Amino acid sequence: MALTFLGIESSCDDTAAAVVRDDRDILASVVAGQTALHADFGGVVPEIAARAHAEKLDACVEEALSQAGLRLADLDGIAVTAGPGLIGGVLSGVMLAKGLAIGSGLPLIGVNHLAGHALTPRLTDGVAYPYLMLLVSGGHCQFLSVTGPDSFTRLGGTIDDAPGEAFDKIAKLLGLPQPGGPSVEAAARAGNPRRFALPRPLLDRPGCDLSFSGLKTAVLRQRDDLAAAQGGLHEQDRADLCAGFQAAVADVLAEKTRRALAQTGAPVLAVAGGVAANQTLRAALQTIAAEAGAAFLAPPLRLCTDNAAMIAWAGIEAYNAGQRDGMDLAARPRWPLDQNAAPMLGAGKKGAKA
Ligand code: KG4
Ligand code: ZN
Repeated sequence: MALTFLGIESSCDDTAAAVVRDDRDILASVVAGQTALHADFGGVVPEIAARAHAEKLDACVEEALSQAGLRLADLDGIAVTAGPGLIGGVLSGVMLAKGLAIGSGLPLIGVNHLAGHALTPRLTDGVAYPYLMLLVSGGHCQFLSVTGPDSFTRLGGTIDDAPGEAFDKIAKLLGLPQPGGPSVEAAARAGNPRRFALPRPLLDRPGCDLSFSGLKTAVLRQRDDLAAAQGGLHEQDRADLCAGFQAAVADVLAEKTRRALAQTGAPVLAVAGGVAANQTLRAALQTIAAEAGAAFLAPPLRLCTDNAAMIAWAGIEAYNAGQRDGMDLAARPRWPLDQNAAPMLGAGKKGAKA
């Protein structure tokens, strides 16, 4: 018999609920963002995020069930993000899921948010294990070799900023609107990526770790030099800096992806996260995959960014693998997918990176 799961996501700044079936049918996927609430603060404010999640979660779940045309009693389980992320938000989701599970008698499954992203190509494309996942968002950046629903090996990740965070900071220092990714990409279209010599961090080091903070500082320095020399930035300067930055990010991610594919021999490269929307990056990754003889999969953007369909799906996979959680399910701000990998440094402005 087909399984139908409710998914709940509230680990960062999107409140989301979804209803998904094990035949990969997404019956409903509701995402309520909080961008406007945090706009004045230059980043996600955890307290504001937690309060907004607590306010909106009920309505999102109701909306998802209504779009799916189902009642709670029609479901087979409840999957909820139990970490990693901002603790207040994760707690809001976990508490709601526990309440629903008690009230309905349905099984409760705690899902790792990163597993949700990492298993998305199985939901969208039915891809078989094993495959290589490059997760690039505002809060995460890592290469994962995915060999099963609970089997992830981290090959490398950022040692400082996540790439989306770097795009956002570049936009800020060039006076472009947030979120920075789309505005930097738009400005870069009119730019010359070779005008400024920007670094390709960590390419001289073996392995798949990445770093973006030095690149950001290099752009800042070029901006300040221009401002000192000519009293400000011209439109073309801005475009050239954006194009140069974007090219450097794409170069670094492409080369590290080439290494990760060579190391694993994975037949498929999949991407997830908001930065996967970047066309220059997509084109670079597509080329690298083709050279390695691997298929390239980029899920539709609404399933690349934070959503609850991926949580419902990861819940179904975990349920099928025998996972069941109780009322002692904990909300975990930090929860690395690969328990054997060394911890990543620091936390991004959107929460823990690993
Ligand atoms: O996955 P996501 O929606 O949120 C989390 O980080 O969880 O990713 C958002 C990030 C933002 O930093 C945004 O600037 C970046 O993805 N982004 C892009 C593009 N669109 C969104 N970065 C580069 N190019 C884009 N076109
Ligand atoms: Zn995410």
